[in-house]
Amino acid sequence: GKGLAVFTSGGDSQGMNAAVRSVVRMGIYLGCKVYFIREGYQGMVDGGDNIEEANWSSVSSIIHKGGTIIGSARCMEFIKREGRLKAAYNLVTRGITNLVVIGGDGSLTGANLFREEWSSLLDELLANNKITKDQREKYKYLHIAGMVGSIDNDFCGTDMTIGTDSALHRIIEAIDAIVSTAYSHQRTFIMEVMGRHCGYLAVVTSLASEADFVFIPEAPPSVDWRDKLCDKLEQERKSGQRLNIIIVAEGAIDREGKPITAELVKKVVVDNLQQDTRITVLGHVQRGGSPSAFDRILGCRMGAEAVMALMEATPETEPCVVSLDGNQAVRLPLMECVRRTKAVAQAMADKNWDLAVQLRGRS
Ligand code: F6P
Repeated sequence: GKGLAVFTSGGDSQGMNAAVRSVVRMGIYLGCKVYFIREGYQGMVDGGDNIEEANWSSVSSIIHKGGTIIGSARCMEFIKREGRLKAAYNLVTRGITNLVVIGGDGSLTGANLFREEWSSLLDELLANNKITKDQREKYKYLHIAGMVGSIDNDFCGTDMTIGTDSALHRIIEAIDAIVSTAYSHQRTFIMEVMGRHCGYLAVVTSLASEADFVFIPEAPPSVDWRDKLCDKLEQERKSGQRLNIIIVAEGAIDREGKPITAELVKKVVVDNLQQDTRITVLGHVQRGGSPSAFDRILGCRMGAEAVMALMEATPETEPCVVSLDGNQAVRLPLMECVRRTKAVAQAMADKNWDLAVQLRGRS
């Protein structure tokens, strides 16, 4: 059977295990020899026990677990050619020429570069007598399929990334808990949520929790935001609301690009309205714990599609990323999605927020 390996890279997210499970089982079902690569690219570079053959039962009882059972890491060695040469050796000597990478845009870009270099890496290994001519010929094509695992939902091309839905559940649960105490004490709560430079988690949770105000990176507020915020909070209180909830995305900024932090918002509220105000920073609570049903199924569907993409690949097939498009698992050109994702970051850096939002839209 064909050699196929799966690994998780970058920050973990809920639902990655469902994806790993699906890749392993679909791979075995289709007759592949399937391997885990532990600790992301680091395990690929180090080889040894990090690359282990998987069987049907090695992925039993993991679908409900958060994080990734095969570990994840940010690897500096893979950034250098020397590291990639070691990785290529570790794959070729095990007959692995199909890779499923589950990670963010950085991890997917690394996989693409690896594929582009594959031929020259094998040439170097052959020249150094590390591999045989037969191996050079037999394993000359490397195929890549990616999936995006991230709570941030910051990748262009997919409606949802694996982990986002679970993070939303976790945040909503926390807000519901806070609302009880806010109501009892007539307090204002400011909640900082993750998302890096993406406001998706903040926007969706603010809608689902009836928050009064939300700050996100993609829509910096007008310069008079302090007045607008205070007017809104005051108006809600006057109309009988006993509490206020404000959501701040961790990457929120003003029109000059300066951070709008939970502390800054608190100071504005306290100085102007003298409201009893508290801050809750949810942190990594959002990224852990049991995956939602949606993320489990998303991981399963994407994993199966990734394996099918690899099995159908021809030497000319470009690396793909499996995406969700209107509840369909589809294959999109990996590098086009990465380029668009990077273009969003550039548009944000250029303070062209309209363009950033437009680029983030559906494919
Ligand atoms: O990308 C996922 C994420 O949780 C972001 O929301 C957050 O900014 C970042 O990772 C935190 O990184 P770390 O786990 O390295 O502290």
